[in-house]
Amino acid sequence: MSLEKKSPCKVNLLLNILGRRADGFHELETVMQPVNLCDEMTFARASSGVQLTCSHPELPTDSKNLVHRAATSFLAAANISDGVKIHLQKNLPLAGGIGGGSANAAVTFTALNELFGSPLTPEKLHELAAALGSDVPFFLYDQPALATGRGEKVQLLENFPALRGKAFFLVHPGFGISTPWSYQNLARFPEALNGKFGRAKELVEKLQTKNLAGAAGTFYNSLEAPAFDKFPVLELYQEFLRENGAEVALMSGSGSTTFAIAKNLTTAESLAEKFKSQFGNNGWMATVEVS
Ligand code: C5P
Repeated sequence: MSLEKKSPCKVNLLLNILGRRADGFHELETVMQPVNLCDEMTFARASSGVQLTCSHPELPTDSKNLVHRAATSFLAAANISDGVKIHLQKNLPLAGGIGGGSANAAVTFTALNELFGSPLTPEKLHELAAALGSDVPFFLYDQPALATGRGEKVQLLENFPALRGKAFFLVHPGFGISTPWSYQNLARFPEALNGKFGRAKELVEKLQTKNLAGAAGTFYNSLEAPAFDKFPVLELYQEFLRENGAEVALMSGSGSTTFAIAKNLTTAESLAEKFKSQFGNNGWMATVEVS
């Protein structure tokens, strides 16, 4: 028996860093929105070990890969001596700030739990996911969420009325930004490093009305400070998107993906066309309805 699963991505509608912690991580509050653009994964039982293959030549398939680590950690926690065979078809960009790798890991946990007859509780899966990466627990649930701590404390939210019927345009410029680099360089921007708590709740409340325009000024990402400093083109992207019909334009996570929110899918597609004529058809771009 083999299981096929889609592994989606996310955008951070808000990412407010509250300061550096003693353990080196950063305390934050973030509003995360699932996005229905996906990698594809296949899982099957094998006699022993974790055998991972991947369509992307740059991704390691050993224990450096989050999927491999998730599978190893699952098998150990569930006391399973059999192995697994996993294939990852990578459609999403790497180092993009849209959580592709974290989602792959989370999908591995849920798929293996299904494949082996649910030996682990949802709480245990959450614990294993959090040990693997700050964004991984969010992807165990297919819902918008407010995440706090280093990102691993997840409070699930209903779909936002302000985003109903809207569509995303996502653009990855062809270069990635390393998450550790982003956080390290945030130290040069004290205002962005020490954000004021409460912005996430403010955005969530605004998104719970039907008025996206009223919420537009509250979308925020602290990690734009170091990213714009090194890659000014990312700021130009946003200006262009806002001038050409985007209701919101923001960088997701630690970048480099920028996302725009448009009135509907047709508007998002026409925004994508205008963007290509202005900046060229480089990198990775996609449009999708808000799910
Ligand atoms: O948890 P994750 O593996 O995604 O984190 C990658 C890196 O990003 C961490 O090693 C750390 O440098 C930085 N980070 C952070 N604060 C967070 C999340 C990530 O400093 N809340």
